[in-house]
Amino acid sequence: MAARIIRKIVPAGRSGAAQYSTGVRKVTLIPGHGIGPEITVAVQKIFEAAKVPIEWDEVDVTAVRGPDGKFGIPQKAIDSVNANKIGLKGPLMTPVGKGYRSLNLALRKEFDLYANVRPCKSLDGIKTLYDNVDVVTIRENTEGEYSGIEHEIVDGVVQSIKLITEEASKRVAEFAFQFAQDNKRKKVTAVHKANIMRMSDGLFLRCCRDLATKYPGVTFEERYLDTVCLNMVQDPSKFDVLVMPNLYGDIMSDMCSGLVGGLGLTPSGNIGKNGALFESVHGTAPDIAGKDMANPTALLLSAIMMLRHLQLNDHADRVQNACYEVLREGKSLTGDLGGTGKCSEYTAAIISKLN
Ligand SMILES: NC(=O)c1ccc[n+]([C@@H]2O[C@H](COP(=O)([O-])OP(=O)(O)OC[C@H]3O[C@@H](n4cnc5c(N)ncnc54)[C@H](O)[C@@H]3O)[C@@H](O)[C@H]2O)c1
Repeated sequence: MAARIIRKIVPAGRSGAAQYSTGVRKVTLIPGHGIGPEITVAVQKIFEAAKVPIEWDEVDVTAVRGPDGKFGIPQKAIDSVNANKIGLKGPLMTPVGKGYRSLNLALRKEFDLYANVRPCKSLDGIKTLYDNVDVVTIRENTEGEYSGIEHEIVDGVVQSIKLITEEASKRVAEFAFQFAQDNKRKKVTAVHKANIMRMSDGLFLRCCRDLATKYPGVTFEERYLDTVCLNMVQDPSKFDVLVMPNLYGDIMSDMCSGLVGGLGLTPSGNIGKNGALFESVHGTAPDIAGKDMANPTALLLSAIMMLRHLQLNDHADRVQNACYEVLREGKSLTGDLGGTGKCSEYTAAIISKLN
């Protein structure tokens, strides 16, 4: 069951990343904060053992104050992603309610990474309430409720703007249909609340409907967000590919991760016209950072998605099979999966399955 592979992440010819099948590719590596450096080393060791033809260009993404006094991404990191057009990223710490804005958001904006793709698939060996989950959430990544336009109108009254544009809605809808077609998925569900937010979600939905007509081989359905939440936990097999505005995608993708064993197991890719950034979706896990307890699977599966994006499918298959075998055996699992294995032991177990 777990062997089904997402073959294509980016519709052919639409990624800014060069498509190599041989030769060494330079990839920006952002280890991030907290457990980020530990899980990054795990991925690097596995890739090295598997002789994956990747050269890492490691950069730090810790907020720096620019000449305007605002905090942002260090220029070196921006230059690296611009040059390589592809990156792998660990979690970044974000201060809550104060300080600078999320660097994750800043990265998505900086590189216009407009679609967030998260495959959530049941894995053999990982016992959850369901054993038949195979959904892909595609989230609009640049606007919606996360447009960052907020202001105080008068004391005690704050307004936050949910920005929906035809351009962003169309491109993410097109991405979702093309993704479904390329990966031989049968259905795309547009998730919305157009009954309440008639103009904003209404526009998003209209764009999805328009795009659906161009993909007659893919079934299209539209569902209210609340109904999808209800139906998803009742029977996830009813869903295939889901496309939605930013906030709904954020929540729904975490919920779907929960159905397959949690954030420690879920990969993701942020795709733009001129680049792609693959990342583990969990946070920095400060409670276990530096203790060799972190589960590197999410980052590893994200790195495998990245290999497919680079059309290094044989390498991706090999690493993925080794990872799935270790999960299936269940002997070296980390604490979050109910095991007692350390991050380094789990990593060594995967390496031992490569040959
Ligand atoms: N994509 C990102 O960069 C990202 C995403 C979410 C949160 N964050 C940041 O991370 C920090 C901590 O956030 P949080 O505590 O809400 O969420 P978190 O994901 O860091 O931790 C939640 C719980 O899950 C556990 N956990 C998470 N990833 C794990 C892994 N790979 N292996 C084992 N256990 C794991 C943690 O130990 C913790 O108990 C905050 O600063 C937040 O802004 C970053």
